Amino acid sequence: MPWSLLTLLPLILYVLRSISKRPSSLPPGPRSIPIFGNWLQVGNDLSHRFLATLSQTYGPVFLLKLGSKNLTVVSDPELANQVLHAQGVEFGSRPRNVVFDIFTGNGQDMVFTVYGDHWRKMRRIMTLPFFTNKVVHQYSDMWEDEMGLVVEDLKREERVRKEGIVIRKRLQLMLYNIMYRMMFDTKFQSQDDPLFIEATSFNSQRSRLAQSFEYNYGDFIPLLRPFLSNYLNKCRDLQRRRLAFFNNYFVEKRREIIAANGEKHKISCAIDHIIDAQMKGEISEENVLYIVENINVAAIETTLWSMEWAIAELVNHPTVQSKIRDEIATVLKGNPVTESNLHELPYLQATVKESLRLHTPIPLLVPHMNLEEAKLGGYTIPSESKVVVNAWWLANNPAWWKNPDKFRPERFLEEEYGTDAVAGGKVDFRYLPFGVGRRSCPGIILALPILGLVIAKLVSSFEMKAPPGLEKIDVSEEGGQFSLHIANHSTVVFDPIKA
Ligand code: HEM
Repeated sequence: MPWSLLTLLPLILYVLRSISKRPSSLPPGPRSIPIFGNWLQVGNDLSHRFLATLSQTYGPVFLLKLGSKNLTVVSDPELANQVLHAQGVEFGSRPRNVVFDIFTGNGQDMVFTVYGDHWRKMRRIMTLPFFTNKVVHQYSDMWEDEMGLVVEDLKREERVRKEGIVIRKRLQLMLYNIMYRMMFDTKFQSQDDPLFIEATSFNSQRSRLAQSFEYNYGDFIPLLRPFLSNYLNKCRDLQRRRLAFFNNYFVEKRREIIAANGEKHKISCAIDHIIDAQMKGEISEENVLYIVENINVAAIETTLWSMEWAIAELVNHPTVQSKIRDEIATVLKGNPVTESNLHELPYLQATVKESLRLHTPIPLLVPHMNLEEAKLGGYTIPSESKVVVNAWWLANNPAWWKNPDKFRPERFLEEEYGTDAVAGGKVDFRYLPFGVGRRSCPGIILALPILGLVIAKLVSSFEMKAPPGLEKIDVSEEGGQFSLHIANHSTVVFDPIKA
């Protein structure tokens, strides 16, 4: 045996001896080794599909040790109920990670902050201007106007009906305008608007750095953290410039308008409400910026991914497009689809649900965490474990769904009749695209009608087809820490429907 190996022998023996048999009260999982835990076995890409495969070996709740951190994975509806609802307080926190600490200013935001007073206050302050039926009614005409502009743009260019376009870009402008009009009462002029280019660039860099698996090693293994310093500095620099951008170009503008109007000022957009709460001393100026940051990622990106998925599936399923068209014609008899008549269109709604089921945009939900040691499924979950619910697997497990890999909206009118996309109330725990309970998505109230409307407008104006020479659109997926988007942004032909 070479000398170099002999000198390593004590270390190897130590590692082998200490390969730990986990205490029986912990959830099952692969054997772990010191320092690295299971990280060397499972690697970085802890995708919903990989975790679903592991659940077939280790069961509906299992535990991975990732360096110094514990990851508990839940893959069963009843246990999901425990984590999100029945023990929602115990599992209602969010785990920290070195990169999210930077992007959230150590939890000054709402999405990633621990469960407690700050979260409660932020959620309350955000609810009034963003998450009520009144807001939906106040803004739905504006949403439809923005969607109408998309339809006009798509009709204008011959290229769009001959070769097709990457539809994401135009929908991105539409969604930014919808959210920025709600937030700041302002909009971007076009895809070439320098502010739009800057906003999308800041947000996509933020998503790339936060969702990457590249930094896991330094997050899991504190000893390796010094090697991450360049990456973390990049995140800090981006976050500083990004928050300054939101502040200088948008928040400050509203402050100036509020100051100029003085007593007479009428709250006219969401950020006015938020600034009002700040001026009353409820939150800090930085919290205001973190609310803007949260909306930029939580609202815009997720809804955009969902639209891209739905459009790609509709292109690949022309009969679903014609069924939606028939439903609109039969039910609305020539009247336009509006937010107020969406509920009369069950097939359209089933299509939205089916797309969110097959391509769950946040397949593992936003990770949860238990601050204190907790019990789950008869096992002990150590305090401060990251707990993920594999929502994609709950909605795609062939044990619970008929042919789950098929895009078939009819399932929600037939065997799955009664299963709805909800974040509270009567919940089917196999279907949780927005989570459920305390940390569920409050944006569901906006996302569902926006998705329904945009699909209805596009399908009633165009036949959406794959570009010439292609039969189907590629629906391969690409995942991040907890996002799931289409790997290749689809090029779609929009062929106007003759009246
Ligand atoms: C189709 C679009 C969307 C999907 C699929 C989606 C999904 C989700 C999911 C899965 C969660 C985490 C639930 C959990 O941890 O248990 C979440 C949280 C959140 N979402 Fe959404 N979301 C969407 C759109 C929106 C929109 C439009 C907004 C805002 C306007 C929004 C704001 C939020 C916020 C603030 C949270 C954090 C809630 C908390 O931690 O208390 N989302 N979303």
